[in-house]
Amino acid sequence: MSSPTTVRAGGPSAGSAALAEAAFAGAGSQEAADTARRTLARCRDLVRPSLSAAIGRLHPWQGEMAAFSLGWCEAGGGPADGAREGKGVRQALAVLCAEAAGAPGESGVAAAVAVELVHTFSLLHDDIMDGDGTRRQRETVWKAYGTGPAVLTGDALFALAVQTLAEAPGPLTAEAVSRLSATLSGLAHGQAEDLLFEARDWTGPDAVRLDEYRTMAELKTGTLLGCAAALGGLLGGAPGSVVAALDRAGRHLGVAFQAVDDLLGVWGDPAVTGKPVHSDLRQRKKTYPVLAALASEGPRAVELAALLDSGTPLDDAGVRRAAALVEACGGRDATLDEARRHLGAARACLRAVPLAPGAAHEIEALLGFLLHRSL
Ligand code: IPE
Ligand code: IPE
Ligand code: MG
Ligand code: MG
Repeated sequence: MSSPTTVRAGGPSAGSAALAEAAFAGAGSQEAADTARRTLARCRDLVRPSLSAAIGRLHPWQGEMAAFSLGWCEAGGGPADGAREGKGVRQALAVLCAEAAGAPGESGVAAAVAVELVHTFSLLHDDIMDGDGTRRQRETVWKAYGTGPAVLTGDALFALAVQTLAEAPGPLTAEAVSRLSATLSGLAHGQAEDLLFEARDWTGPDAVRLDEYRTMAELKTGTLLGCAAALGGLLGGAPGSVVAALDRAGRHLGVAFQAVDDLLGVWGDPAVTGKPVHSDLRQRKKTYPVLAALASEGPRAVELAALLDSGTPLDDAGVRRAAALVEACGGRDATLDEARRHLGAARACLRAVPLAPGAAHEIEALLGFLLHRSL
């Protein structure tokens, strides 16, 4: 994988990015959402047998925890009781990008399984790091099974992801594994920044800058999305220039995706997202809405900074007031703008290379859905 330099919205392709954005603004978003949902379901069905077979290779106890996290069973292994599965964005990107390279979706399945396993591993560890007790409308694995078992299962999923890809037949396996390994390093690097940012100041010379946020978001979220797209293209037989463009598109998508995730962490409905609300604010996470709000000028930004810097953990009233101030300072709108910019840049990367039209259409619909999603 290319080195984890930050992709920047409005960079070299700003003109075509603006065009892409304008095209999206006029698109029927309901139609895009329906297409995206169908695409996610189609890819999930295609990948499921191989993902399930991979999980079946784990130690049975770890396999149960993985299946619980994936929404396939209850804690203890009983049949799933209306659990919500993940959206499956990464596996879909891998399949779609294999198809975009002109190959059947099946060519991208090994990549899809690998990135979905990495995603699952990262969530198991992330929920411990962030102290979050709910995900996908159920207890997190560390809550249900304990921290040690959740760490161990994350480790096993990490190893299984590499093993799955290493065992994929074909001449490109070594390059694929190399990309996945670089992705794992990038993700860990981004998560380190995310944790270190918690201790940084909200204002003043030690405050986290927006460009630092972008680098962190690209690393913790964009590297895996870029890897999913690039691996799908690679296994689908795309030339190097196309694989590189898919990687860049995925990285931009990652920054947009993370910005929307930050929004949902403040204004999302936990009944829909399946995750806690306001957890980021309590944890002093340096999310885009808050950073953008603090960067605005005026008395509300000053009040927000004073509230966040008060030295005591925010109580319920404090987080509600902070969220209201972030919105009043324009942090919500600025975050959506940031997400739109990066989605436009992702589209520009995709449109600069030859892709099979049907798959390209589905990828574009998926990008639109991810901006407007409520989960
Ligand atoms: C959550 O990812 C973690 C982030 C990178 C923000 P998703 O929003 O894709 O989670 P699921 O898989 O759909 O639950
Ligand atoms: C997303 O982390 C990135 C990874 C899990 C590697 P977040 O902490 O921002 O995501 P959520 O909101 O818990 O899903
Ligand atoms: Mg988290
Ligand atoms: Mg986190």
